[in-house]
Amino acid sequence: MKRIGLLTSGGDAPGMNAALRAVVRSGIYFGMEVYGIERGYAGLIDDNVIQMEMRSVSNIVQCGGTRLRTARCLEMMTVEGQKKALDTLEKHGIEGLVVIGGDGSFRGAKVLSEYGVPTIGIPGTIDNDLEYTDYTLGFDTAVNTCLDIINKLRDTMTSHERVSVVEVMGRHCGDIALYSGIASGAEIIVVPEISFNMDEIVSRINRSRANGKHSNIIVVAEGVMSADEFSKRLQSVTEYSVRPTCIGHVQRGGSPSMADRMLAAQFGNKAVRLLNDGIGNRVVGIRNNKIIDMDIIEAVSMKKTFNQELYETLQMISM
Ligand code: F6P
Repeated sequence: MKRIGLLTSGGDAPGMNAALRAVVRSGIYFGMEVYGIERGYAGLIDDNVIQMEMRSVSNIVQCGGTRLRTARCLEMMTVEGQKKALDTLEKHGIEGLVVIGGDGSFRGAKVLSEYGVPTIGIPGTIDNDLEYTDYTLGFDTAVNTCLDIINKLRDTMTSHERVSVVEVMGRHCGDIALYSGIASGAEIIVVPEISFNMDEIVSRINRSRANGKHSNIIVVAEGVMSADEFSKRLQSVTEYSVRPTCIGHVQRGGSPSMADRMLAAQFGNKAVRLLNDGIGNRVVGIRNNKIIDMDIIEAVSMKKTFNQELYETLQMISM
């Protein structure tokens, strides 16, 4: 394979730039020409293609966001859009593609694979919502950003003896809430995978206050309810003073952590090694601390499971 394409798609994630760097440099190492497609699948459909050189990816390993920019592209779900995307690849003689993104982006990659374009997916999303990999690129940095904010909230909530309701991202997957909840010492997390009962939450707060706590932290995943709404409902059934905070898009930005930069280097390099070996239609990931690859159709059909044991751990140690 002599000419490969590269795009980032869906919500951006810290570490995407480091992955771009790894793909471009690995491709050049193997003697390939690497073409960057700007604005994800939208740019593939609109023919926004640029050649990437060794120096195109200088000084970005530490940057959040994605230099190729990204988009959520509904047109890629139509046959018309898919045909335009294929035309662009053909026009530039691009023989293989690396797609960095989440679940939706992988579905686009799967379609291109089915049309005969060898495609490799790199899991890039803060959500950590892909079952086949233990971690997605950007998750670690996003959780660390949430921790920074929750640490600061804890200061003021303790001074005022308040209950802090913190909304983090995650429409269907509670992993950001679960990990930031455990690591910040939150008493309660509310996630889409597990139904909640407000009376039980109030009892838990009351019990912790009886045990000598002066403040509480509740982390709520956005897919359950907004921090505003949750706070109003909680405030109507408790005497304690409740304050909402929505972390929002801040958790999608920032310089990637060491863990995300390491994943980016390894995922990017593995993706290019596969294409160089003539292997397509795979996704790369990490399982039990080993870089793995898997059939793309199998990967997108796996249903994400929630880590019940970690959830119980939080309940046992935060009181
Ligand atoms: O998929 C990543 C993500 O950050 C989700 O956690 C969140 O629900 C969504 O994107 C927000 O999307 P947008 O930036 O398009 O509003």
